[in-house]
Amino acid sequence: MSGHNPVQSAPLKNPFYISTAIHYANDLPHIGHIYENVVADVIARHRRRMGDDVFFLTGTDEHGQKIERSAEKAGVTPIELADRVVEYHHQLWKSLEITHDDFIRTTEDRHRVGVNEIVARIRANNPDDIYSGEHTGWYCQNEEAFFPESQVVDGRCENGHPVEKTTERNYFFRLSKYAEPLLEHYRRNPRFVQPATRMNEVTSFIESGLRDLSISRTAVNWGIPFPGDPSHIVYVWLDALTNYISALGFGSAEQDRFHKFWPASIHLIGKDIVRFHAVYWPAFLLSAGLPLPGTILCHGWWMRDNLKMSKSVGNVVRPDEILERFGADALRYYLLREMVFGQDSNYSDEAFLQHFNSGLANDLGNTLSRAIKMSDTYFEGKTPPIRCMVNDLRDACERFVSDYLKEMELFAFQRALDAVWKLLDAINAYIVTREPWRRFKQDGADDALARIIWDILEALRIVWVMMAPFMPGSSAEALRRLGAPQSIDEKAFRWGQLPTRSPVIATDPIFPRIDIAAYLQSDPKLKGAPLNEEKKDAESAATSGPPLETTQAISPDANRIKIDQFFEIDLRVAEVLAAKKVEKSKKLLELRLSLGDSERTVVAGIASKYQPEELVGRKVVIVANLQPAKLMGVESNGMVLAASIDGEPSLLAVDQSVPAGTKVK
Ligand code: MSP
Repeated sequence: MSGHNPVQSAPLKNPFYISTAIHYANDLPHIGHIYENVVADVIARHRRRMGDDVFFLTGTDEHGQKIERSAEKAGVTPIELADRVVEYHHQLWKSLEITHDDFIRTTEDRHRVGVNEIVARIRANNPDDIYSGEHTGWYCQNEEAFFPESQVVDGRCENGHPVEKTTERNYFFRLSKYAEPLLEHYRRNPRFVQPATRMNEVTSFIESGLRDLSISRTAVNWGIPFPGDPSHIVYVWLDALTNYISALGFGSAEQDRFHKFWPASIHLIGKDIVRFHAVYWPAFLLSAGLPLPGTILCHGWWMRDNLKMSKSVGNVVRPDEILERFGADALRYYLLREMVFGQDSNYSDEAFLQHFNSGLANDLGNTLSRAIKMSDTYFEGKTPPIRCMVNDLRDACERFVSDYLKEMELFAFQRALDAVWKLLDAINAYIVTREPWRRFKQDGADDALARIIWDILEALRIVWVMMAPFMPGSSAEALRRLGAPQSIDEKAFRWGQLPTRSPVIATDPIFPRIDIAAYLQSDPKLKGAPLNEEKKDAESAATSGPPLETTQAISPDANRIKIDQFFEIDLRVAEVLAAKKVEKSKKLLELRLSLGDSERTVVAGIASKYQPEELVGRKVVIVANLQPAKLMGVESNGMVLAASIDGEPSLLAVDQSVPAGTKVK
């Protein structure tokens, strides 16, 4: 009898496999590396809640000359160095709330098994694809790759690293044979490499002629012995690229994961390693008779002062201080908000702090606090007792959620966040036009008011559902404060999920504002101090601020100051009498200033742009009534005003004819 099955089988989930590049284990990750893992995490979290069965892989690339040399310099063995770096990775990904399912190290046995297997498959499938030959070419130690004559300029490779003429007898891979099959694959799969500019780049690379690739090395010891000839080791890129399948158990007795998740949906990488992923890797896979990954998704570079952030340039930004001071979500938000996916971006502390204050403290944080405070006050600490299913705000939500979901599919994270901000604007406009505080005063907590407040909270719930992959910790906290369910799936985007009479939590601001000037002027070691002050201010404002039923408290302009607050700041024209560098500081200058009838010393963070000599005699504008502060041991009595363009100061100027001491208003 066929009978019905009492065990309901869950609907089949779509397997979705996303990987990051594996990071070299000779150095600690910087903001550029972190960006990649955060983007992968945003995609993974988004796919999970949309119902996919996600496998998210990251890891470390531990073989080759780069690691061998760094270890030698550090006086440790390569594996000791890698162990240290891996330990740091684990802590870092944990504090950034990265939800990878596996972490592969290329020094693991399971990886060696996978590398042996791919070489075996290539040999079995295409016996002529691997051959022994001699090769002379321009070898770049930094990239561990040979460069064609055409890409070598003044003894440097296309990425600016020195190259050496090198001759080796090696094993070669018949890459030249795969030019046409690869181009054919690109034609059939126009989204194989994204964005399209990167596709054009690899297409012309292939069209300019593919040469066979040396896939073994004898000059390096630290690596996987070449199968069948242990006097060679496997070329690091063949070794490293295979991580994407060795992590799935490829070549081992346990291949379930491989069968389930291969081919990968997305290999997420930086634009500097596109050639390896979009040309070499698919050629190896074609030769081995394995399916190709769906998309090679390429992001741009984080730069500093318009140079790619990298250890060799010496311009890296490490995450530790930012994480300790502002937490994971603020950094995750900044990275995704500031960079247009696929393009380059310059990192700057100022931009980070401004995004924090305007995007987080003001837009997201204040709107949340105000709405919760209203519900708390009007409905006795709970969400209102009545839902509202038809209204303008619901329409706005539906429109912006639909835009957001489309942008997420296109990896246009900035535009997805724009959709969230449009919804926030709609919520604020709704608050201003409905004037709930006035209604409460007039009619008390009636049904009409209940509907309005419920609408606002429900729309905010949806805002925080949208924010969940970007800022998982804050999203969970905001939903908790809103009295909303914590679990998020596809249905969470639909209007109507916020329970009635659910307890809300009206407490401190979720993102206390930062005093940017104080933060930037402080010695790096002191940077913790202003927040504490700021936090105290924010806390006391939260407990002793004006009651919420006043217009002032709920107006979206509550962050603006009053004219008399502005007049509390004493702005004056000053003349620079003398200037010198502050010892041991790259940023600071010590200025002796005249204010007409008095003199004083002010320390200014403008040394990156201005030489002391050029300032003497110049008129500047200062905040004259700041409390004195010690900067690198020098007491500063005021602050010189300057605009900042990506950290580069530009002094505020007045006509030279204005006498020192004149008030500015
Ligand atoms: N080990 C290779 C990848 C092998 S994948 C089979 C490698 N490692 S890396 O540590 O140099 O880079 C890891 C990832 O970080 C790469 O995708 C790289 O593009 C990215 N980035 C490195 N510096 C970067 C920036 N300054 N900005 C953005 N991403 C950057 O390459």
